[in-house]
Amino acid sequence: MRAGKSSRTALGVARALLYASRSPHLADLLPDGAADRTRTLVFAASRAARVEYGWMDRGWYRALVGVNERLLVPGGMHHVALRKRFLDDRVRAVLDAGATRLVVLGAGFDTLALRVAEARPSVTCFEVDHPATQAVKRKGLATLGGGPENLHLVPVDFAEASPEEALAADPRSDDAARTVFVAEGLLMYLAEPAVRKLLRFVRNRSAPESRLLFTFVGVGPDGRPRAGPYQRTMDVLLKLAGEPFRFGVEPDDLPRFLASEGFHLETVTRDSELAAELLPDRSTWPNRFLDWEMYAAAVHRRE
Ligand SMILES: C[S@@+](CC[C@H](N)C(=O)[O-])C[C@H]1O[C@@H](n2cnc3c(N)ncnc32)[C@H](O)[C@@H]1O
Repeated sequence: MRAGKSSRTALGVARALLYASRSPHLADLLPDGAADRTRTLVFAASRAARVEYGWMDRGWYRALVGVNERLLVPGGMHHVALRKRFLDDRVRAVLDAGATRLVVLGAGFDTLALRVAEARPSVTCFEVDHPATQAVKRKGLATLGGGPENLHLVPVDFAEASPEEALAADPRSDDAARTVFVAEGLLMYLAEPAVRKLLRFVRNRSAPESRLLFTFVGVGPDGRPRAGPYQRTMDVLLKLAGEPFRFGVEPDDLPRFLASEGFHLETVTRDSELAAELLPDRSTWPNRFLDWEMYAAAVHRRE
């Protein structure tokens, strides 16, 4: 991340969500309330996003975004909608099964914790994010009266520290709670030691049977984390944003990697598989799915 600057990629995801919310078939995929809440947070964070929002239904703007998507991140808009829907459904399923705490790591402008906290006052929700990104999110939450009382924001730079100390020192955090952790669009930005530290934090600070839901990218033949079909261009753009990809793991290798930190992999899925289930009308599919960022669910069973 660029020193002292809020995450550009986090704002990019939120803007893509707003754009997706203007397409009928993608809007239906988005979790209830996600677009409204995102709009509030993003409007407080970025004047450019407010202006852009006013253009989102215009033909010329949609054509421009369509070209940009095809040239850089084919399937990107479907990806944002499917990713939000997958994680939302999974988190609610884990909470319905008895988890009482939600911890969203690298939350950016995502609204999952906010919406869960509003809908389920008995669930304690935490967002842990880079201090610079979180400071901007706080401004957005202030426009919502600060957010619900059971939503707590904890600033941590994962490259410097583990959230361990921050959450352990927080009297509102209960390590005995069965917890659902979310790391959406986060692990690829961290170096492997920081990813391992995060996994240990999840394992040490929650009850057995807690779940970690996360997204990840694979590794290309050159050993670098995959960033889609236009790898070089994406590498340059991510570097310019100050958020280069640092970590990837191939899906075949993921069970071994997770087991080395005491986790069992439960599920791996991707857009093309989710679309078959969630978007039965194939005429709404993109030419190409963004299958290089995948979704996974893992569980830890402490001895
Ligand atoms: C692509 S955004 C994803 C945001 C959100 N999870 C979503 O999917 O909408 C990446 C997020 O990772 C966070 N992040 C990146 N590097 C970080 C670090 N070293 N410490 C803490 N957070 C970091 C950024 O602040 C940002 O919120």
